[in-house]
Amino acid sequence: MKETSRRIGNLPVSATLAVADKAKALQAAGHDVIALAGGDPDFDTPSHISEAAFAAIRNGATHYPAPMKGIPSLLEAIANKMDQDNGIHINPKSDVVVTPGAKWSLFLALAAILNPGDEVLYLEPVWVSYPPMITLAGGIPVAVSLPSEDNFTITADRLRAKITPNTKALMMNTPSNPTGRVLTQAELDAIAEVALEADLYVIADEIYEKLVFDGRKHLSLAAMPGMAERTLTINGLSKAYAMTGWRMGWLVGPASIVKMAAKMNGQTVSSAANFTMHAAVAALTGPQDFIGVMRDSYQARRDYMVNALNAIDGVECRSIEGAFYLFPRFPNSKKNSLELADALLDQAGIAGVPGIAFGASGEGHVRFSIATAMADLERAVARIVDVVPNL
Ligand SMILES: Cc1ncc(COP(=O)(O)O)c(C=O)c1O
Repeated sequence: MKETSRRIGNLPVSATLAVADKAKALQAAGHDVIALAGGDPDFDTPSHISEAAFAAIRNGATHYPAPMKGIPSLLEAIANKMDQDNGIHINPKSDVVVTPGAKWSLFLALAAILNPGDEVLYLEPVWVSYPPMITLAGGIPVAVSLPSEDNFTITADRLRAKITPNTKALMMNTPSNPTGRVLTQAELDAIAEVALEADLYVIADEIYEKLVFDGRKHLSLAAMPGMAERTLTINGLSKAYAMTGWRMGWLVGPASIVKMAAKMNGQTVSSAANFTMHAAVAALTGPQDFIGVMRDSYQARRDYMVNALNAIDGVECRSIEGAFYLFPRFPNSKKNSLELADALLDQAGIAGVPGIAFGASGEGHVRFSIATAMADLERAVARIVDVVPNL
C-alpha cells in the first residue's frame, strides 16, 4: 500500500483524550477511577434549551440550514451577545460564521489567515490542540513560554522575543485552559501593543468567558482600540451553557476573513446542525441566571480544592481566576509530569493530565478538572493525601 499522510502521522494525539481513554479502560476493568482529566461540565444542558431543539425538530429544522453559515436569528443573537457582553460591534450578516463547536472555528480562523511557513505564536502552557491545529493549517507553531514562577504572566517583551519577519498571528485564551489565569488589562495591553507593532492577527479564544471568579470581569481584546480589524474572536456554548455535545461555536471578525472562513466551513462540514442553531438562539436569548449558578458552584469547588490541596505536604496549588482546571505542582517529587500522572492513576485511581502535554512550561504540574461533582473531589483529595508520600 502507498504511504498514508505524514502530516497526520506526525501529529501528536490529544493527551487529554489519551488519559481519558486509559481511565475508561481501567474503569471497564472494574477499577474505581475518579476522572479529573476532561473538560466536560458535569451539569446538564438547561431544559429550555433542549426543549427549543425538540420544537425545532418537530417544526422541520431537519434540513440544511439557510444560510449555511448560520440562521438569521442566531447570527442576530450572537451579534447582540458580542455587543452587550464583549463590547464588540459586528454586522450579523457579514462578520460571523457559526461552526460545529468552537474548536472548528479556531481551525477556520487559522486556515483563513495562514500561508505555508507563516509562524503563529502561542502562549505556553497552551491548550493541547493549538499547536497541532497551527501545523494542520500550514503554519509553524512558535511557543512563547510563560514561567510558572511568574504566574504565567504575559509581557510585551516575552512576546517580542519570538517575533520574526514570518510571524503572522498570535493565539490566546482567556480565561486560560490549563492555567486558570484570567488576563489582566495590562496583559491585554501588551498583546495589543505587540500585535499593532508587528502587524499580527490575533485569535482570541473566549470559550471560558463566563467562568470568571471573585467578581472579576472578562475583557475582550477585539474591543480595544485598533484591535477589531485584526482580531478573530472565538466563542461557543460548550462551557457556559453545559452544551459540549451539541457542538456549537462561532467565529467573529473582519468581514473579509469571516467570508474566507465561511467558504472553508461550506467546503468541509457544510454547517453546524440546523436544530442546534435553534437551540443556540434559545440559549443566548433566554434566561441566563443558571450560568451564575454553575459559576458559583465551580468557584466553591475551587475554594475547597485549592485549600485542601495546599494543606497536603508536598502539593502546591495556586488559586485560579477562571475556567475549571487546577494546575497543582508536587515540589517534593522527583517524577516528571508524565510519571506523576501515571502514578496518580495507577496508585490512587485519579485521572489528571500531565503538565508536559501543555508544553515545556507545564512540566512539574498535573491538570485536574473541577467540572466534577464535589463528592468526587473530596474522594480525590483523600486519595492524594495517601499517595503523595509515594510520588
Ligand atoms: C481552550 C479551549 N478552546 C476551545 C475549546 C473547544 O470547545 P468546543 O467544545 O466548542 O469545540 C475547548 C474545549 O475544551 C477549550 O478548552
